[in-house]
Order: sequence, then structure tokens, then C-alpha cells
Amino acid sequence: MKFFLDTADLNEIEEAASWGALAGVTTNPTLYARIGGKLSDFHAHIKRICALVDGPVSAESVAMTRDEIIRDGRELAALAPNVVVKIPTMVEGLAATHALAKEGIAVNMTLCFTVPQAIMAARAGARYISPFVGRFDDISEDGIGQLEDVVIAINNYDFTQNTVRGEQIEIIAASIRSANHVTQAALMGADIATIPFDVLKKMVSHPLTDRGLESFMKDWEKVQNA
Ligand code: G3P
Repeated sequence: MKFFLDTADLNEIEEAASWGALAGVTTNPTLYARIGGKLSDFHAHIKRICALVDGPVSAESVAMTRDEIIRDGRELAALAPNVVVKIPTMVEGLAATHALAKEGIAVNMTLCFTVPQAIMAARAGARYISPFVGRFDDISEDGIGQLEDVVIAINNYDFTQNTVRGEQIEIIAASIRSANHVTQAALMGADIATIPFDVLKKMVSHPLTDRGLESFMKDWEKVQNA
């Protein structure tokens, strides 16, 4: 499983990259707003992220019609070779994804909640599909169960004729809220988890690791004073 960071924060990206586990980044309008991002600086900011990350960087279109999404997608894809255009799973988004995929532009279909949505995204030519786990849990549904259904359904078929350059679709477990979400996503074989920085940090720690470290340090003190 590969880990992407779900953020627009350059410091978080630099820090996670230094740990050696960062394979890509996903952003969305909320994450950009959270860092105080301005519309006039959006393209420049995506370029800055792309320069920091050795892997795909999802940048989202906020347009609502196919023509506008296609125009946005072309502009975003021209920013850097590792840009992936993020497009919501809706009719206009599917049409735009289909058109952009034919032009060789990689698309991450986002806000995906069901197996039929995922298959539509795959047929349209999406390179990545992002089922949302946490937001499905938020409405008292089974986010992990739905992600697993999508993984099984997509892996049942060969979509390589639909994707850019015949690459395999990769499923990004998104809206990840805990290390346990990551465990479940890895066990079912989701290709990627896109993770907020605070969850990524929590994934590294364990109380028994802390306790073990504390006892090693105490014993090492004894050695030094012996
Ligand atoms: O990248 C989109 C997704 O991961 C958002 O997560 O926590 O806002 O539901 P969340």
C-alpha cells in the first residue's frame, strides 16, 4: 500500500516526505482554504506542492459543467507533469474525465461512495478512484465495508483499455480518520490511502513502543552510572 498525504500544507508535506513514506499528495478546496489559500495563488501553490513530491499530486476542479471542468483540467495538468486532475463523481464530471483521459490526462474521481459510481468512473477512464470512508461512517453507514466492495468490484474487471496509457486503476482510500481505517484498507488490498498529517503521525506511535523506549532509556542510565 502507498501513502498519500491529504493536505495542502507545505510544511506537512516536507516533514512526511522526510520520513520516506510519502508517495503522493491529494488536495481539495477545503484543504486549500484551511491553509488560507487565495484563488490568485492556487496554481502557484499546486506547482510548489508538485516540486516537493516525487509522485502524483491531485488538484481539484471546482467547475460544475463538463466544458469548464475540461478547461480547468487542461490548465491544472499543464502546471507540472505529476498533476492529477481531481474531479467529483457526477455526470458532468464523468464526461470531463472521459474527454481528459482521451487527451492523456490522469484523473482522480473523488466523492465516490458506491460500487456503481466507481465502475462508472472506471469506464470513463479515471486513473484513480477515491471512495470516502469517514464521510460514509458519518452518516451511520459502513465506510470500510463500502471501500471493500469497491476494491472487490474494480478488481473483478480489467479496465486497462479505459485508462490513460493502459495503466491499472488505483483505488485511493480517502476520508481516512484513524490508523485503524488504514489497517482495514491495507488488509483488503486498497492500493493507496490518503491520510491527514495528524493521522499519519498517530500511525507511527504505539503505547507499547513508548513504554519500551522509556524502559530502555532508564536501563541505559543505569549502565552509564555503573
Ligand atoms: O481528499 C478528500 C478526503 O480525504 C476528505 O476527507 O476527512 O474531509 O472527509 P474528510
